[in-house]
Amino acid sequence: MFSLLVRRDGLIDPPPLGDTDVHCHILPGIDDGPEDPRGSLAIARLLLEMGITTVVATPHVISDIYPTTTDRILEAVEGLRKLLKNSGLDLEVLAGAEYYVEGDLLGRVERGDLLSFGKDKFVLFESPVESKPMILEEIVFAMKTAGYTPLMAHVERYRYLQKDRDQIAHLRRLGVKFQVNHPSFMLPKTSRRGEMARWLYIKGMVDLLGTDMHRATPWVRPGHKTRRAGVTYKLFG
Ligand SMILES: [Fe+2]
Repeated sequence: MFSLLVRRDGLIDPPPLGDTDVHCHILPGIDDGPEDPRGSLAIARLLLEMGITTVVATPHVISDIYPTTTDRILEAVEGLRKLLKNSGLDLEVLAGAEYYVEGDLLGRVERGDLLSFGKDKFVLFESPVESKPMILEEIVFAMKTAGYTPLMAHVERYRYLQKDRDQIAHLRRLGVKFQVNHPSFMLPKTSRRGEMARWLYIKGMVDLLGTDMHRATPWVRPGHKTRRAGVTYKLFG
């Protein structure tokens, strides 16, 4: 059945991105996303061109680099909504965050100081790329207990999961849902990240897709479109 998906170049057709981007650094001046509102508008225009109608704004929250408060994110989301309206852009923005797995996050979970989205109350989180943090299971357990659904960001990126697929099954058993970056599906077969994204897709473990876009312009390659999703951003990584 899956052989039907394999293209001549050895890759598979990516899943359609759909109308919602659950991972996007669209808020201005808050993390390593756009520096100013103009950059946010450029991202918004690109998302709309791609068929996205709802975006979850997910700025990094990392205690020693981006110690952004929930109020600050809500305020920035409100500002972006106004900006989009004034610019005539019909893009719905939901408030979220990309929380780094660390002791500070456990404190946030315990205080109920988390931005979640959707009826499942998804909370997007990221971990270090190379090794699994000791505190990961504890945080996942605390989120589940508090009624949230832990959503692991760009699962295809982590070296410790690429090397040990049993760890993936372990996280699934704990109730972790997986977000994959849509551009990763277009990476070549030589890319570990690309191969991991495709493997997760074939195994039915891609729960939600996102762009993880930080800027519109450097990734745009005008005229380049994937066959299915009409994606116009350039591959990265
Ligand atoms: Fe991100």
